[in-house]
Amino acid sequence: MSLPFPRIRLTVIGAGYLGLTHAVCMAELGHDVLAIDVDPAKVAKAASGEPPFFEPGLEPLLRKNLEAGRLRFTSSYSEVGDFGDVHFLCVGTPESADGSADLQYLHAAVDALAPHLSRRCIVVGKSTVPVGTARRLTARLMERAPAGDEVELAWNPEFLREGTAVHDTMSPDRLVFGVTSSWSADRLRDVYAMPLCNGTPCLVMDLETAELVKVAANSFLATKISFINAMAEVCEASGADVIRLAAALAHDERIGGRFLSPGLGFGGGCLPKDIRAFRATARALGVGSVDSFLSEVDTINLSRRTRVTDLAREMVGGTLAGRHAAVLGIAFKPGSDDVRDSPSLAVCDQLTADGAIVRVHDPVAMDNAALVRPDLRYADTVTEAAAGADVVLHLTEWPDYRAIDPVALGQVVARRNVVDARCGLDGEYWRSAGWVVRILGRP
Ligand SMILES: NC(=O)c1ccc[n+]([C@@H]2O[C@H](COP(=O)([O-])OP(=O)(O)OC[C@H]3O[C@@H](n4cnc5c(N)ncnc54)[C@H](O)[C@@H]3O)[C@@H](O)[C@H]2O)c1
Repeated sequence: MSLPFPRIRLTVIGAGYLGLTHAVCMAELGHDVLAIDVDPAKVAKAASGEPPFFEPGLEPLLRKNLEAGRLRFTSSYSEVGDFGDVHFLCVGTPESADGSADLQYLHAAVDALAPHLSRRCIVVGKSTVPVGTARRLTARLMERAPAGDEVELAWNPEFLREGTAVHDTMSPDRLVFGVTSSWSADRLRDVYAMPLCNGTPCLVMDLETAELVKVAANSFLATKISFINAMAEVCEASGADVIRLAAALAHDERIGGRFLSPGLGFGGGCLPKDIRAFRATARALGVGSVDSFLSEVDTINLSRRTRVTDLAREMVGGTLAGRHAAVLGIAFKPGSDDVRDSPSLAVCDQLTADGAIVRVHDPVAMDNAALVRPDLRYADTVTEAAAGADVVLHLTEWPDYRAIDPVALGQVVARRNVVDARCGLDGEYWRSAGWVVRILGRP
């Protein structure tokens, strides 16, 4: 598979959702890949062929490339420095207390890597960062690397989506290279020779614009979701139907249908923290309009979570205290076991704070949820979650939930109340089975 494309010795620093997927896919492209993570449990699990998180299609490719000898894992930065000609930075950039991006992991990774860079190489940032970060990291890297300015920094933001991460990495919509020299751009063209050969558009630009492409893209996507959810609020207030509205809007090719699904809004490890970090950057740059605009996008998004809790409370007679709530779906989106900033978890918190007894089901995310919310009750099946429930809440649109038989489920609940926060259930069918149904944005 590797020929006639260049075969490069590259390293991946940080083997989380982004880094492990990237490492596996780079090996699949034919490169020799060494990945490092500070979490020894993660390294051990990945090295044994088991991804430490759920991502469709990742495990077979991980095993295949481990067996082929193209992919290895280590805990040694000195091995990483010796091995790689291209080093990808894939560590987390989580939200700080003030909303800005916390760059401590990026700084720690650069500080650990730099002393081992003693020949010409390229360090490529893939993490999502505030504009200006790469320029500051360049100075940090050159000061600490024995090879000095022989080490070049580039930024190659990542656009993969959890749930379709392998496909998105192997066949990206576009590649963005933020570089300071044609040498760096050529190295990146070598790394991505196969997707480029397959016609993937490649945009080469300065470091700052490349950093900004990622946060601007996520801000636009978040805005689109909050826009349709604001329309859902109007629909709820006026008796209109947001699903029909969205379908009609989507026919306008200037608008398009993607990211126009109303519901409980966005969550996960990217969009919420990225728009908050962008707000902080905009404030620092004196661009108040972006700060206030994205503040509204965030507020609309969070308000949908409260709306779901309010609907559940209303359906069970005005108080949730002592009521049983069955929550279907805890992952922030289907196809993932990620519960970072999960809208469903936030609803669970609100229900619990109001005194409800919450029992949760999810096909893959319950282990992760139990780590951060050990006090919730977890059920192995939908039926077990719903047994004796006063209200059922559909909060993550796993395909299996669409296939639930409302007649059978109606036999096990205490009261046939369902809140569909993902507009995924057939309301008429559920009503015909005796359920009281509330769907966000729909009559
Ligand atoms: N998850 C996504 O869908 C996605 C998509 C595009 C971009 N991103 C961006 O990619 C970055 C990583 O996100 P993620 O979801 O993979 O996070 P993650 O928390 O799953 O992974 C980060 C990994 O980095 C490791 N790490 C931390 N410090 C380290 C160090 N000094 N050396 C080596 N390893 C270290 C952690 O142990 C962890 O395994 C973030 O900036 C995120 O915004 C994520």
